[in-house]
Amino acid sequence: MSLNLRHQDGCAVLTLDRPQALNALSFALIREIGAALDEVAGSDARALIVTGAGDKAFCAGADIKELQDRPLLEQKRGAELGQAVFAKLDRLPVASIALLNGYAFGGGLELALACNFRLAAPNAALGLPEIKLGLIPGYGGTQRLPRLIGESRALEMILTGRAVKAEEALRIGLVNRLVEPPLLDAAIAFAHEFCGYGRLAQQFAREAVQRAAAATLESGLRIEADLSTLAYRTADAEEGMRAFVEKRKPQFRDG
Ligand code: CAA
Repeated sequence: MSLNLRHQDGCAVLTLDRPQALNALSFALIREIGAALDEVAGSDARALIVTGAGDKAFCAGADIKELQDRPLLEQKRGAELGQAVFAKLDRLPVASIALLNGYAFGGGLELALACNFRLAAPNAALGLPEIKLGLIPGYGGTQRLPRLIGESRALEMILTGRAVKAEEALRIGLVNRLVEPPLLDAAIAFAHEFCGYGRLAQQFAREAVQRAAAATLESGLRIEADLSTLAYRTADAEEGMRAFVEKRKPQFRDG
């Protein structure tokens, strides 16, 4: 196993564990990530934190040694596998946080882009260096990066392969926050800022925001009207509004 899944303080913590290869994504590891995400979806975790073993890398990308000398059809299937596994993060019932504890390159950055949030350690470096290998990103980078930081900045990163350090990543909106060691404690504290609220309201909010990228404003507003109306039907909404009026802390029960 090159992957470690454990639970701490209400969070599932998924650690890519191939530090000798800077946690590079072999196809076996990608499949393991897929199975682990299914396990997290069925657990009572209230948030997912994804990070890398060791102090050097979150993940240095797809395993380049494994990518060599494969028929084109296999390469396409490989891209589709990576895309499908990372897309599971979109449908995960809880929000996901990539804790970038070093290099986040290629497929590693693409995994982080598929998470809802990115936190960068002081030594984080984020890049899509595929162009230096004669390639382009294949696990979602060409689609998720421009949605996050805009077309021109995304193209600059993809065409030059330049790595962005933590401060710049924060400035251009590529990461949400910079965090200091102990990194896992910082990520758990970040998760605790939202994971005490009702899971249903969080799911509705994530779905509405995620669907904004593919919707016209008109259809996006319809989605928002439907999902916000659905939120009123939950016991948590009833409890949240009653607690406000009664001047007490709400007790959300995910119903
Ligand atoms: N695949 C396989 N092995 C990798 C790897 C990768 N992506 N990245 C690092 N490694 C291995 C190295 O081969 C080395 O192993 P050996 O000791 O057996 O030689 C070990 O990890 C340590 O790496 P380095 O000695 O290179 O460490 P460094 O500190 O000198 O450099 C680095 C670090 C700058 C991240 C450098 O390792 C590097 O450039 N890695 C490749 C990054 C990259 O190009 N990623 C994109 C991959 S393609 C992709 O991801 C396609 C896609 O969109 C899905």
